[in-house]
Amino acid sequence: MSKFIMIIFGASGDLTKRKLMPALYTLYKGGRLPEGFSILGIGRTSYTDNYYREYILNELHRFVPAAEQVEQQMTDFCNHLFYQTLNPAEAGEYGLLNERLEAISGEEQPDNLLFYLATPPSLYGVIPLHLKAAGLNRPHTRIIVEKPFGYDLNSARELNEVYASVFQEHQIYRIDHFLGKETAQNILAFRFANGIFEPLWNRNYIDYVEITAVENLGIEGRGGFYEDTGALRDMVQNHLVQLVALTAMEPPAVFNADNFRNEVVKVYESLAPLTEEDLEEHIVRGQYTASGSKAGYREEKGVASDSRTETYIAMKIGINNWRWSGVPFYIRTGKQMPTKVSEIVVHFRETPHRMFRCEGGNCPRANKLILRLQPNEGIVLKFGMKAPGSGFDVKQVMMDFSYDKLGGLPVGDAYARLIEDCIAGDATLFTRSDAVEASWRFFDPVLRYWKEHADAPLYGYPAGTWGPLESEAMMHEHGAEWTNPCKNLTNTDEYCEL
Ligand code: BG6
Repeated sequence: MSKFIMIIFGASGDLTKRKLMPALYTLYKGGRLPEGFSILGIGRTSYTDNYYREYILNELHRFVPAAEQVEQQMTDFCNHLFYQTLNPAEAGEYGLLNERLEAISGEEQPDNLLFYLATPPSLYGVIPLHLKAAGLNRPHTRIIVEKPFGYDLNSARELNEVYASVFQEHQIYRIDHFLGKETAQNILAFRFANGIFEPLWNRNYIDYVEITAVENLGIEGRGGFYEDTGALRDMVQNHLVQLVALTAMEPPAVFNADNFRNEVVKVYESLAPLTEEDLEEHIVRGQYTASGSKAGYREEKGVASDSRTETYIAMKIGINNWRWSGVPFYIRTGKQMPTKVSEIVVHFRETPHRMFRCEGGNCPRANKLILRLQPNEGIVLKFGMKAPGSGFDVKQVMMDFSYDKLGGLPVGDAYARLIEDCIAGDATLFTRSDAVEASWRFFDPVLRYWKEHADAPLYGYPAGTWGPLESEAMMHEHGAEWTNPCKNLTNTDEYCEL
């Protein structure tokens, strides 16, 4: 086989410098990249190889954790980088790419290629066709495509058709970096490597589930991208629904790419189709407004002053199957929230009868299991115990596991894990074509509803708050409320709620 070359489209963009290069450096440092590898950056910005190496070296200093930075290794890594100025939208320019690949590999028609599309989504459909026209869809070639894969159901179908006309499904890796997170994968281990929770993991014992992935930052200068995307396409249709799948899926008989992904698709296909009532009452969308020193979304660069793009969304969804019938899953995501946190909170049913007293707050209600994906990664089980002393009062306490107790999370981040899996040809943690369509099929009515109802509410929420009050009201119907973690999540004592 020829030497391995990874080709990154969007090489001068944000994702490349923040995530991809630090991840590739991590792999390099661990000796986890193929022998004699090269990385070829592609972009319209005009750079020489040397300039690109210097630029990336600089960015590695910014985005690789200080403890991981080894000067010599960073410089050695950058010596494997090349850059080709090229407009990926122009079919005529792909000849340059072919020539460059041959020059780098020293071989004719190298085929051990991995294309990574870190470009604006508008190019996802164009690049594969140009690669095909240039004869670059070779047997050992793979392609990684960023999310969102498609803009709605129809465009996702069209994209799938384009990819299927260029590559075989086993060559296509639709990335969703949440699945690369150690803590997301651990949901499977927690559920299926332990006997004690699984018998309780169903409608008989679980009252409702919350899934939260919120951030305390705004759109970070990505106005142009975000205006056309919004929270539903950016986070919900992919990251959040993946977490729903990990929480709700049946155990695969054997853990491999096909079996695991079959179970994911089954969850998506069981999502209860959204009714008119759901669309009106069980979805709350919001947009952050200025607060203190924080600008409102409409004041951000690249955002229209009358923008209706949502930066927050909360939804109640149901799963129509034996395990989950009647158990609501409340999911939410938002920018400019009080803190950054991703977690799943499983609320078990209350005891049938309360016979103990509880005074002075911190009263146990139902047991609650928190799977914290980030930060302060860990698992907490909240339960009631007798308050020491006379009488028979009970209080809520917790048992907790924190990754810190293992010496922290292993260095490899989500992107490193996924790129390494792709190089090894393991597609387990990537989204299959049927999954992407099944997910869009479920969310498409929301987009259509918003499009057809220009007056559908879009609530403002001051930057730095937990979103529109209406999202609380949505849960009260079930006698439930959101679990809002403390603002300063720094140690395990802080599994507290506001
Ligand atoms: C990305 C979204 O996919 O995920 C961003 O495009 C978001 O808007 C990011 O900030 C969140 O990822 P993480 O790993 O930082 O939680």
